[in-house]
Amino acid sequence: MSYEHIRVETRGAVGLVTLDRPEAMNALCDGLLREVSAAVRAFAADDGVGAVVLTGGDEVFAAGADIKEMQGRPFVDLFLGDFPNSHQEVWVTLEQCRKPVIAAVAGYALGGGCELAMACDFILAAETAKFGQPEVKIGALPGAGGTQRLTRLVGKSKAMEMCLTGRLMDAAEAERVGLVSRVLPVERLLDEALAVAGRIAELSRPAVFMAKEAVKVADETTLQEGLRFERRLFEAAFATADCAEGMAAFAGKRKPAFRNR
Ligand code: HXC
Repeated sequence: MSYEHIRVETRGAVGLVTLDRPEAMNALCDGLLREVSAAVRAFAADDGVGAVVLTGGDEVFAAGADIKEMQGRPFVDLFLGDFPNSHQEVWVTLEQCRKPVIAAVAGYALGGGCELAMACDFILAAETAKFGQPEVKIGALPGAGGTQRLTRLVGKSKAMEMCLTGRLMDAAEAERVGLVSRVLPVERLLDEALAVAGRIAELSRPAVFMAKEAVKVADETTLQEGLRFERRLFEAAFATADCAEGMAAFAGKRKPAFRNR
């Protein structure tokens, strides 16, 4: 498939998606979001790929939904289209993707850009990264998880302040409050994201899928239900050949040879 707004490649067992609309600071037009969705779906279905990295490159992650494209859309069209969910199914795609997706964020991740990064499994940030939900400044509010995911990630006070004022959060603050997992110099960001994704891709895929599924459940259920879910998956892991291989390899002081079985 050929893409207009993104670049898609594989680096070993890692799928790499790069947003590529520099003239609009990678603003998330419908076409771009459809392409990201298609690329992630293709990687999800590709047995040769074990993890995905989503980046905007060294300059900017994404400055949000494409305001010029959204401008003037009638309410009833948005409502009937369940915008942005059904119209730009990338949000659903990321929610359903079982392979880990890492966001590598440099520069602005604003509005839908911040929401896109948060829809990934974790965020590695460059020192230049700036996160924000500035929709209130254009008379709107976050529409793709900004009020929900940000609040779960950083707590009510920070999320309220960001959504109500549009204040941006720099990389150091984002790491301090848990929005991002690590901060790196911009020139090392992509290499490190690819290296982390590569290490995940080498692991047992059933174990990785189970771990991701269990962590995601933490956002959706009570502690007791989540612990029960985790325990059942932990027990289930013992049914895989990879779990037997991993433990035998540890005991035998050798590298495991996982077969994703
Ligand atoms: C469309 C955008 C854009 C956007 C930047 N551009 N952001 N176009 N939609 N969100 C375009 C500008 O129009 C300009 O094009 C070019 O990119 C460079 O932008 P400048 O503003 O000239 O750059 P700079 O002065 O460096 O300022 C950067 C910025 C600013 C701080 C990121 O562009 C900005 O505030 N952008 C809007 C951020 C925002 O409000 N995002 C939330 C959108 S709503 P031209 O052609 O003029 O050179 C949203 C809702 C999500 O995301 C809903 C779910 C999908």
